[in-house]
Amino acid sequence: MANELVRGGITAATPEAVAQAADLLRAGDLVGLPTETVYGLAADALNPEAARRIFAAKDRPADHPLIVHLPDAEQLPRWASSIPKEAIALARAFWPGPLTMILKRDPGVPDEVTGGQDTVGLRVPAHPVAQALLKAFDSGIAAPSANRFGRISPTTAAHVQQELGERVAMILDGGACELGIESTIIDLSRSMPEILRPGAITADQIAAVIGRQPRVRSDAAQATEPASAEETAPRVSGALAAHYAPRTPLRLVEAPALAGEWAQSLAAGLRVAVLARTLAKPEQGSVHWQQAPLYATAYAHDLYATLRDLDAAGADLLLVEALPPTAEWRAVRDRLGRAAAGSGEQDET
Ligand code: TXA
Ligand code: MG
Repeated sequence: MANELVRGGITAATPEAVAQAADLLRAGDLVGLPTETVYGLAADALNPEAARRIFAAKDRPADHPLIVHLPDAEQLPRWASSIPKEAIALARAFWPGPLTMILKRDPGVPDEVTGGQDTVGLRVPAHPVAQALLKAFDSGIAAPSANRFGRISPTTAAHVQQELGERVAMILDGGACELGIESTIIDLSRSMPEILRPGAITADQIAAVIGRQPRVRSDAAQATEPASAEETAPRVSGALAAHYAPRTPLRLVEAPALAGEWAQSLAAGLRVAVLARTLAKPEQGSVHWQQAPLYATAYAHDLYATLRDLDAAGADLLLVEALPPTAEWRAVRDRLGRAAAGSGEQDET
């Protein structure tokens, strides 16, 4: 018996619900899907009409390509026209998992999915619900993060509902995402491997598998510059300087300056919310003060939910303690830098 479907509703990921989600994808509709990184907005990757629905639901510019999710690496040849040895080695090492590879696309991949580029982003996710849906669907699922364009990525089913409401047919509930930030993206379509977006899988881990150090494009500042002289860089919406952004203005402040900045902002009559990590809450003064986890993996896990909470706290300003300049913090530093750059816009979505 099929479940009564309330559009935009959150559904426990039972085998029946997963089968129903696969049917909805076949019918060209959109489904909210948990992965181990963030929730995705899923559609049939071979259906151009369905891909166009993704862009409409997200208010996303049509030239920003989508990642195609596959049930396993065996399906790679259907999507990529050339599969370098390094891609095979990385798939063995990190799939299923939080790594997206950019490869030359098969001509059958719709332009709507690739943004008209000659490459395609491919990933085999590890989350059991994503795996179950991919197995039931048995083809590629295009899925960007299930947020409005430029906004904070969702890490729970409730976040997806807040972002997209009835724009999705159903939302499969897979709990809070284990990692909390988007996959590492490595471009293997050009002469030099290049990390386009840092994530849980680091440049050093990739280097250990492929035997050479990938280039890294990660700083928000760098992202606005062209990547390399003779090759045109692919378009990556995650590489926009402003992204993952709360509506409240957000400033990153080094720990030693944080208490002072906070006191100054209070004196200026601002309502301030603070996300500290190493710094303890001052004794006096009332403030929305949140303590973030000390370690990078736990920090990443909580980051987007925390930004959502802080954004809803009714503050005029968010002060966030800056993060250490080390490699393990690279991915969250990248997200926070872009969140700061994109924060404070007053738009209507
Ligand atoms: O962890 C993730 O990767 C999540 C989950 C749902 O899998 N997905 C995700 O998708 O973050 P999205 O669309 O929010 O970000 C994907 C990024 C975009 O910045 C897009 O421009 C880039 O990947 N991308 C996709 N295909 C590409 C291609 N062929 N060349 C360059 N960049 C590409
Ligand atoms: Mg995204």
